[in-house]
Amino acid sequence: MSKVTVVGAGNVGATCANVLAHKDVVKEIVLLDIKGDFARGKALDSWQQAPIDYYSTSIKGTADYADTANSDIVVITAGIPRRPGMSRDDLISSNAKIVTSVTKSILEHSPNPIIIIVSNPLDVMTYAADKASGLDSSRVFGMAGILDTARYRAFLASALNISPKDFQAVLMGGHGDTMVPLPRYTTVAGIPVTELIDEETLDAIVERTKKGGGELVKLMGTSAWYAPGAAAAQMVATIVRDENRVFPCCALLSGQYGLKDLFLGVPVKLGKNGIEQIIELQLNEDEMALLNKSADHVTKVMGVFNDMNVL
Ligand code: NAI
Ligand code: 2OP
Repeated sequence: MSKVTVVGAGNVGATCANVLAHKDVVKEIVLLDIKGDFARGKALDSWQQAPIDYYSTSIKGTADYADTANSDIVVITAGIPRRPGMSRDDLISSNAKIVTSVTKSILEHSPNPIIIIVSNPLDVMTYAADKASGLDSSRVFGMAGILDTARYRAFLASALNISPKDFQAVLMGGHGDTMVPLPRYTTVAGIPVTELIDEETLDAIVERTKKGGGELVKLMGTSAWYAPGAAAAQMVATIVRDENRVFPCCALLSGQYGLKDLFLGVPVKLGKNGIEQIIELQLNEDEMALLNKSADHVTKVMGVFNDMNVL
């Protein structure tokens, strides 16, 4: 019987709301955007799909934060997406202000929500929302790892001509070109992927995954939305069902992997309280070096955010 707010009714937000409605696990979704009529239109269109696809979740569009009151979970997708030639980090000047102000407005009406950040640059926008909300950090985290591993698994599925259903993988680090896919922890129906694919093909897939977002920006002129929206909806459903599923998510580290005071992609257990546990893998030296490099990059962008003084 949960209430979920999705902020940003654009490509990712509207997709997230629509996919979540199809799962029929929450009572009410509020889709909020500064463009109120746009949000109302997207919500109405999604609601009119309910008799066709059989779901009861109501969807309401709005520009008024009062309508978000007492949300259990909030997904923040508000902000600018990147265009060809831009990196995710280039978005910080506009999105930092948007994400902090959205977070504060949400907290005025919902005392203790779980907040899932999608806006880019993801790791630093999650840090921004954490700071702006003052919530326990187990309740503020970001969506990126599910998307990045989905890309990795989809590329592997195509290369091996095996159903994407059978790929399990974990990926760590920041949501950017320094992300760390982990072939050692990738399996196909329990079989280590390294037994099924040659090293050269696997390396090429790892590299393609790291640039997977950029590949789509080049093709479409804006960033992706089907897989990102579905990934955020999957996180919401997992929390609502209190499933304790394990996903890579962007979470606050407090000493895990020898890192602290930064948000980075790590495997976590997701349940009704948000992040129930951060799982610590036994990374080898090479993997740890890649993770540290990614952490250094995120720390630099956090510095840019801190210098902006938007909190
Ligand atoms: P979009 O442009 O289609 O939608 C963004 C929406 O945010 C617009 O409708 C806009 O009106 C709204 N918005 C802007 N400022 C707002 C405010 N202050 N309050 C409420 N709404 C506001 O963009 P899209 O494609 O949906 O992407 C959204 C964000 O998600 C971008 O920053 C993008 O980079 C990021 N993204 C992150 C991914 C991830 O893996 N974490 C994956 C895909 C996108
Ligand atoms: C993506 O990876 C842009 O972060 C977004 O598609």
